[in-house]
Amino acid sequence: MISSSGSSFYLLCCLAVLLILPFSSLSSDPDSLQDFCVANLNSSISVNGFPCKPDAEVTSHDFFFDGLSKEANTMNVFGSNVTPGSVLEFPGLNTLGISMNRVDFAPGGLNPPHTHPRATESGVVIKGKLLVGFISTNNVFYSKVLSAGQMFVIPKGLVHFQLNVGEGKALTFTAFNSHLPGAAVVPLNLFASTPAIPNGVLTKAFQVEDDVINAIKSKFGS
Ligand code: GLV
Ligand code: MN
Repeated sequence: MISSSGSSFYLLCCLAVLLILPFSSLSSDPDSLQDFCVANLNSSISVNGFPCKPDAEVTSHDFFFDGLSKEANTMNVFGSNVTPGSVLEFPGLNTLGISMNRVDFAPGGLNPPHTHPRATESGVVIKGKLLVGFISTNNVFYSKVLSAGQMFVIPKGLVHFQLNVGEGKALTFTAFNSHLPGAAVVPLNLFASTPAIPNGVLTKAFQVEDDVINAIKSKFGS
């Protein structure tokens, strides 16, 4: 039999678990254990994240980044360009669990289907008109055409894309709950990996002949 003090203790424990659970399941990168840990990207020590630059060497410069201020060149097969602002470009983000990208689109440009293995993405369209879509693990396609000021969210790890469906150029800024979200670009993963995936895998997966696979591979220079 549980005494009344025992049952209140039990209730308190349940309450504590209920309060803590959502935080552990919602977080992506782990919480930091200090104010900041500006990354030393050149350290030979290998850890989960990057070692911290000594506090004495940290300056204001470490907490500001202008790498997303310029329009990028979109002259490539996709007609889009992702400029990353992750810990690799902006070491002040190390351990803080966030980062951003800038994505420029030529008219008709596509940010091709890709996934971020370590982060949920949200974005805001700054200029133009974008068809933004993702596919769930149940194979349901969710999409909407967005214009300037409108936001979107892509749940962690799901395949997604943005296509410029407006008349002119388009621009979006995206944000991630990881300092290094990673990006696996589906067409490049499948048709331009090193070494190449054997044609036998791709012909079977896509139910086409060898020449179709070779034609697609040739578009990516292999
Ligand atoms: C857009 O999908 C991005 O990854 O920045
Ligand atoms: Mn993305």
